[in-house]
Amino acid sequence: MATTEPNKQFEARKRDHIRLSLSEKNQAKGESGLDRVLLTHEALPDLNFSETDISQTSLKKKYKTPFLVSSMTGGHQDSTNLNLLLAKACAHRGWRMGVGSQRKELANPEAAAEWRSIRKAVPGVSLLGNLGIAQLIQTKTSAVEKLVEALEAEAMIVHLNALQEVMQPEGTTNFKGGFKALERLAKTLSVPVIVKETGCGFSKATLKKLKATGVKAVDVSGLGGTHWGRIEGARASQDSVQATAAKTFANWGVSTVESVCNAVDIRPKYEIWASGGVRSGLDAAKLLALGANTVGFAQAVLEAAVAGEGALLHRMDVFEYELRTVLFCTGSKNIADLALKKVCLKR
Ligand SMILES: Cc1cc2nc3c(=O)[nH]c(=O)nc-3n(C[C@H](O)[C@H](O)[C@H](O)COP(=O)(O)O)c2cc1C
Repeated sequence: MATTEPNKQFEARKRDHIRLSLSEKNQAKGESGLDRVLLTHEALPDLNFSETDISQTSLKKKYKTPFLVSSMTGGHQDSTNLNLLLAKACAHRGWRMGVGSQRKELANPEAAAEWRSIRKAVPGVSLLGNLGIAQLIQTKTSAVEKLVEALEAEAMIVHLNALQEVMQPEGTTNFKGGFKALERLAKTLSVPVIVKETGCGFSKATLKKLKATGVKAVDVSGLGGTHWGRIEGARASQDSVQATAAKTFANWGVSTVESVCNAVDIRPKYEIWASGGVRSGLDAAKLLALGANTVGFAQAVLEAAVAGEGALLHRMDVFEYELRTVLFCTGSKNIADLALKKVCLKR
């Protein structure tokens, strides 16, 4: 599908997104449900801290951590340095990295140069591609395959962002045929297909319908962190319908914790991934204990990355240390052990 959006408008929007996602006002703080999740402290774990193992197997591959830098930005002048920094840090720490939407490459194959240069500079990093559902519906698998090739992607993420598109003045709101498009892609693409929300989470009904598509993972990306209703509301001109409506929908969505519980309840064949408001290794541990396989951080790593390489590596180190601390203090040697522990949900 050829997007006809002018370059200037595209780049300005991507810059707005970075700036606005870093503002507290655009975070649905307190809504993730993570404060309700309690893990039990075990006073005498029968293991040494040095034995704790945070490696994880996902989509049949073993990784050093269950962590993912969630899909963020790409395709504009400021993004290359940021993405290079994130890719180097991910390769160094053994995290996976979801890239931002590759939509621009569909119309302009030269836009793939950003990814080719990053791939060349950081050959060992595990990258996951990204495309919106509205674009996928109009795009042949062969074109998506080119996006995979440019990145040498391990998987392709298709993002769902209904609320964002509705609140965006230039939004793309044709979602009809989305399930069929996912099924077609999952059957024909050379790499696994993953579906993710972008901060509004999933109901049980949608998660059940996704079972039939053949996707290999669903990242619930629930309510509780970066909120695209708020961000697009802040971008819209203040006397517009969208700006007013966005205030009404400032806390719209299914929380991250409820979304993960919804996914566990329907016993999916796909892996459950979790993101949306994850701000510490303890938050991540709670989601792993609830049944997530992989946990994604977007805003928290972006904030550190804009402060520089040192800040980014430090934050990643802290998140890993916090996860190890949970393993030790719950008497879990590894993530599989943690997933067997009792989790309480406060009312
Ligand atoms: C600046 C920015 C750009 C984003 N762009 C994308 C994108 O292109 N594709 C996508 O799937 N998600 C995108 N997201 C959504 C995140 O991957 C994530 O689902 C959401 O921000 C919730 O996670 P958080 O609370 O940790 O930020 C973006 C997030 C941020 C902060």
